[in-house]
Amino acid sequence: MDTKLLFQDAAGFATPMLAVFAVDIATAVDADPLPALLSTSDAVTNAAAKVMASGEFKATLGETLLLHSPSGLKAERLLLVGLGKSKSLSVNEVRRGAGAAVRTAKPRGVLQVAIAFPEDHALSDEHLDELPCLLISRAVVEGALLANSDYDTYKSDRKDTALQTLSIVAKEAEKSTRTEIQQGFDEGLIVANAQNFTRSLVNEPGNVLTPTVLGERAAAMCEEVGLKCEVYSTEKLHELKMGAFWAVAQGSGEPPALIVMTYEPKLEKGKSLPKDAPVIGLVGKGITFDTGGISIKPAEGMEKMKYDMAGAAAMIGAMRAIAQLKPKVKVISVVCSAENMPDGRAFKPGDVVTAMSGKTIEIVNTDAEGRLVLADGLHYAKTLGCTHLIDAATLTGACVVALGMLNAGLFSNDDETCEKFQDAMKISGEKFWRLPCTEDYRDQINSQIADIRNTGGTRWGGATTAALFLKEFVGDTPWVHLDIAGCAWNDEVKPALAKGPTGIAVRSILEWVRSYSA
Ligand code: BES
Ligand code: ZN
Ligand code: ZN
Repeated sequence: MDTKLLFQDAAGFATPMLAVFAVDIATAVDADPLPALLSTSDAVTNAAAKVMASGEFKATLGETLLLHSPSGLKAERLLLVGLGKSKSLSVNEVRRGAGAAVRTAKPRGVLQVAIAFPEDHALSDEHLDELPCLLISRAVVEGALLANSDYDTYKSDRKDTALQTLSIVAKEAEKSTRTEIQQGFDEGLIVANAQNFTRSLVNEPGNVLTPTVLGERAAAMCEEVGLKCEVYSTEKLHELKMGAFWAVAQGSGEPPALIVMTYEPKLEKGKSLPKDAPVIGLVGKGITFDTGGISIKPAEGMEKMKYDMAGAAAMIGAMRAIAQLKPKVKVISVVCSAENMPDGRAFKPGDVVTAMSGKTIEIVNTDAEGRLVLADGLHYAKTLGCTHLIDAATLTGACVVALGMLNAGLFSNDDETCEKFQDAMKISGEKFWRLPCTEDYRDQINSQIADIRNTGGTRWGGATTAALFLKEFVGDTPWVHLDIAGCAWNDEVKPALAKGPTGIAVRSILEWVRSYSA
């Protein structure tokens, strides 16, 4: 897709479809909606005047209304896109609105779309808090690009309905504003392309995307963006004594992949980062298919377990964006990829394995495999010098029970680090809800015969006991754990997003990493 940013009056821009945002400025309780356009162009306002006054369009979030041959505009169609109440407007609504515009255009075969940059100053201050231009610009591009992806790769009769051109049309402005908008536009492209890359990996079926293929895809991406990438397998797991990771991998005919991607910031000549500068570790669960192993899962819904590598894919996508956004902080990503299969060689309930850290683990349930591969991945990241750790994993059904599909789980052993992550969420617009990760749950994973066991005694609090298991392997290193089991796959079409992989966590991880930039 061709993406352009132009500075001119949207009314004079010739395009098959021009999307313009609107908000509802009514504030009184039970008041009728009062839609107002986020445009200072008289021609645009005039073209929309009748329908805006008709009461047909209420400017609720994601609502769209399409007008053909709008008078006074060069566009063939004018699409009004609601962003909801003006008082609650943030960049997140802009992201969703831009997505809704693209998803309205695509099924109509309108593959060239222009979006008028939302002008918050079209309204008086009492209606709107000013939003930073850079973040608005970024959100428009992100929303549009994320909405542009559909997951029909394996359909023989697929028609390419991807947009051919996306133009963002912003009003002429002073240089500093133009620079900000341009920067947001450039960042938005990087971030959205990274998130879409993650989504394309998560979409792949388990027979196509084996651990080896995941390693190849990561290596190809690293080659493209100039990252160092090492992909290891069975031998390296044995060499590093990764007994927990290997336990999961040993039951599959497909060899595991240990993927290590490294980003070293390039500083100006003669400058270097201080000796005690943070080194960020991104660790991902990359189970390319989770049958549950010997503790096999029920058949119903098992096909979805191809997305059990979404945490790994999030880290690979985040690394892609990091390579392009170039924060001044070293980042190492460790991805632990394996297939969890029942087999003559598979690990069994009751087995005791020794993790790379030296801790012994009693296996109670082979379906609690994610925490095993992560235990070794987290410990290995520490040995590589990481001072701050984050992991992402489709780790527990319990987290889905607790939070549903709207919030992912957030756990941490350090408030300051966790708050930094929560600040990152304000920019990313992704939702994570902090759940407990305190020592009072620890005795639930005590084992009678080993140092620790891989599940809690009961089903209750399963997301927390899983987090506590991981905590045993990070020690005192500040660490954030993201349980994305409920949010990595979209079962329903959303106004701004196709069904299927969401790419959750890429944007937040990226912002969190950037917050450590020198
Ligand atoms: N991959 C699953 C978790 C999962 C569940 C992801 C639903 C996506 C949707 C994980 O490996 C698993 O099976 N966890 C078990 C742990 C249990 C055996 C302690 C679970 O949550 O049931
Ligand atoms: Zn499992
Ligand atoms: Zn799993």
